[in-house]
Amino acid sequence: MAKSTRRPLVAGNWKMNLDHVEAIRLIQDMALRLRNLDHRAVDIAVHPPATDLRSVEGIIGADQLPIALGAQHCSAYSSGAYTGEISVAMLARLSVTLVLVGHSERRLHYAMTDTDVAATTAAVLKGLLTPVICVGESAAEREAGETETVLVRQVSAALEGVAKGAEQSIVVAYEPVWAIGTGIAATTEDAQLACGRIRDEIRERRGDVADSIRILYGGSANPENAGELVSQADVDGLLVGGASLQGESFAAIVSAVCACYGT
Ligand code: 13P
Repeated sequence: MAKSTRRPLVAGNWKMNLDHVEAIRLIQDMALRLRNLDHRAVDIAVHPPATDLRSVEGIIGADQLPIALGAQHCSAYSSGAYTGEISVAMLARLSVTLVLVGHSERRLHYAMTDTDVAATTAAVLKGLLTPVICVGESAAEREAGETETVLVRQVSAALEGVAKGAEQSIVVAYEPVWAIGTGIAATTEDAQLACGRIRDEIRERRGDVADSIRILYGGSANPENAGELVSQADVDGLLVGGASLQGESFAAIVSAVCACYGT
């Protein structure tokens, strides 16, 4: 499948920023700015903190905004004594359709393992939501020349949570840890190389369905580098952190992606 037949996705990961009142303000501002854009060819999503989901869902629903609602994490369990956790079913009831799984900040600060990533991916798919599986090497791994090894390990482990035939329902995000929040994005060549390697790994394990899976780049994406990044053959969109916290920069990124896809 050619790149042009994969719908690009621009997703904003708000991380632990904005309370629900601030979140309402941001989603309204985004909606106003996106209204002036022809973004029919681009999927747009936001991943607010869990406490904001209900409020953001309300605005998206009331104004029929073409923005998908995502969560940043969920439990691999369906219910029970897991204090502080949130289940896939709870998210689905809030019209959430996407869930980030295995973001490097979860792996680093909350000891999320490859096995946890597979179990959570399986839970998300079972609940008929889309897992956005995050992979990427650290600075030390990159310096040691281990980027490819790390990507292959993380991707193959995550696929353990994807039943045969369910591959089309996943999104993968390549987020090199050293590029997150640093202002130093991967070069377009490095982003392409890594996303291409990820697609090859999926193809080796699951066949040509790899060509229909969207692979995003994340890590200091901004309005200036967005167009060039998504013009790469295997980069099908962006997972945006800091620049998604302002309506202006997020809309500018969407606009750059639209331009690249000819809308
Ligand atoms: P930044 O865009 O702030 O580097 O964050 C990227 C990220 O981690 C998105 O999930």
